[in-house]
Amino acid sequence: MKMMWCGLVGWIDDRFPLTELWNEHLAKYYAPKNFNFWYYFGSLAILVLVIQLLSGIWLAMSYKPAADLAFGSVEYIMREVNWGWLIRYMHSTGASFFFIVVYLHMFRGLIYGSYKGKRELIWLLGMGIYLVLMAEAFMGYLLPWGQMSFWGAQVIISLFGAIPFGIGDALALWIRGDYVVSDATLNRFFALHVVALPLALLGLVVFHIMALHQIGSNNPDGVEIKSNKDEDGIPRDGIPFHPYYTVKDLKGAVVFLFLFAIVVFFIPEFGGWFLESDNFEPANPLKTPAHIVPLWYFTPFYAILRAIPNKLTGVIAMGLAIFMLFVLPWLDRHPVKSIRYRSALFKLLVMLFAVTFVVLGYLGTRVPTALYSELGIRMGELYFSFFIIMWVYGQDRRPAFYFNTFLVVLVALLCIDWIRYDPSKGALMWKSLLMPLVYHVVFLLAPVFTSLNESRPVPERVVFK
Ligand code: HEM
Repeated sequence: MKMMWCGLVGWIDDRFPLTELWNEHLAKYYAPKNFNFWYYFGSLAILVLVIQLLSGIWLAMSYKPAADLAFGSVEYIMREVNWGWLIRYMHSTGASFFFIVVYLHMFRGLIYGSYKGKRELIWLLGMGIYLVLMAEAFMGYLLPWGQMSFWGAQVIISLFGAIPFGIGDALALWIRGDYVVSDATLNRFFALHVVALPLALLGLVVFHIMALHQIGSNNPDGVEIKSNKDEDGIPRDGIPFHPYYTVKDLKGAVVFLFLFAIVVFFIPEFGGWFLESDNFEPANPLKTPAHIVPLWYFTPFYAILRAIPNKLTGVIAMGLAIFMLFVLPWLDRHPVKSIRYRSALFKLLVMLFAVTFVVLGYLGTRVPTALYSELGIRMGELYFSFFIIMWVYGQDRRPAFYFNTFLVVLVALLCIDWIRYDPSKGALMWKSLLMPLVYHVVFLLAPVFTSLNESRPVPERVVFK
């Protein structure tokens, strides 16, 4: 049996670099010894991608991309197709799990500075994946042709209309292929959702991993393992990815699939967070739902868009919020990669950023009352401030630099409040101004008067924790 196997591999190797690829990317790819919990999410993202591709192919076998048939075909899948309900719930739950996994994977990149040390391109390719993933989810959501599919697409596409000089309207018309969201829109979204975007996603994931393997993995200590090799040229702090991390990742996959199955079998709508109740009603162009909101993974950015009354400014702010993530490797130039060895203030900054992102996400799902809109603005301000402070902390700065930045930010905040001043919300505005004020005092003035912004020395070899 073993002889046969070796013979077969030899036969393939003469014609295709199978063993070479296996060794280069798995058996002889040396990964740092100290990967922890946060390092599960890369392989889990691959797992969810496979789940989405397979369940998507099976859904496409019974789905009909036509405005008068789409909703019924999804009902048909749910009720008549063998195991159709399971395939559909795997795909809808998979979409939300994809974003959970990718957000945690991005957060890992942020806390360990995984975009540093010639890893900018890995991050940029990751951001490319994130953008394509958002487009993929947005287009997929139109396909069931429910009320929220229709009206969500209507609202989001109409945002392009905010671009001036007639460009926006022309662009929105071009995207829809019609004056309103219609059969033509459904058809093109279907083509993009099932062919173009999955191909782009797959290509980007391959490039993402190739770029990672070119430079090598970062780790929770931020130590470059390739700079300390033994006499055989093997990193002293590295272990072969296979079998060590294939086994570790398998354990992660089992736990993940267990949680995934609980949601798919018992709570597939997840209280309206994964599948909205309005979407169980067929699309009706004559009846606008009372409250149109995108699914949770878009709502942090949607909250920023909605916080600003002017449509164009809102669209620009939303675009900028995503753009800031793209340029993160150039904003954070601090020589210490991992949060483990960065200052107490930096740890607090990152924690508050995560809280800001989650609160924005929550606000984006709520009916915009005066309080929620005000909170949306303040959280939006904190979101952008995070990147400014990250940039300020990126280098050794003189105290005057912190002071001046504080003054500039303060003036900017007051100008924004002056422009948007509304006497009916005066008290709320002044009270909520405390939020960014305290934030900036802590992060921009505390480093001047205290030692709270001092990093710790980074070890030369990896540490086990
Ligand atoms: C389909 C989505 C994605 C897949 C399948 C994927 C896959 C992977 C895999 C397998 C790894 C190596 C294992 C690990 O470090 O966990 C990795 C590393 C990495 N990914 Fe992703 N990724 C995805 C999305 C993203 C996104 C959206 C970003 C950020 C914008 C990103 C940034 C990174 C970075 C910076 C690393 C290097 C980590 C390190 O060396 O510490 N990835 N990715």
